[in-house]
Amino acid sequence: MKKSLLLVICAGVALTAGQAAAIDRGQMLADNCMSCHSGGANNATIPNLTQYPSSLIVSQMKAFKDGSRPATMMSRHAKGYSDADIAALAKYIGIQGQ
Ligand code: HEC
Repeated sequence: MKKSLLLVICAGVALTAGQAAAIDRGQMLADNCMSCHSGGANNATIPNLTQYPSSLIVSQMKAFKDGSRPATMMSRHAKGYSDADIAALAKYIGIQGQ
């Protein structure tokens, strides 16, 4: 009885982990950006990144991160992302192949 209960718990944990892995990492990271960059009416002054080529998002994020592009908000924000994170979120948000 105890053994089968343990088996059920293990199966449940494995299923949950599998579902979490199915969420795209780029999408997960991009959700943070979209609170400001979705182009909604409340964010009219912040550019809508879905109109940008992915390569431009990558280059600008790196410029914010290394300080070569000064900014009010993005210089601090960009520091929290690795190059791999930036590539993944830019691929998810931006227009590919430009
Ligand atoms: C709190 C709001 C906010 C969030 C969240 C945010 N940004 Fe920004 N973003 C800005 C602002 C404001 C600017 C204008 C530059 C500045 O002053 O920081 C900007 C500028 C940019 C630009 C340059 C746009 C251009 O026209 O050159 C890029 C690229 C960018 N953000 C990418 C991102 C990415 C990628 C994320 C998520 C990792 C993100 N931003 C999250 C507010 C935000």
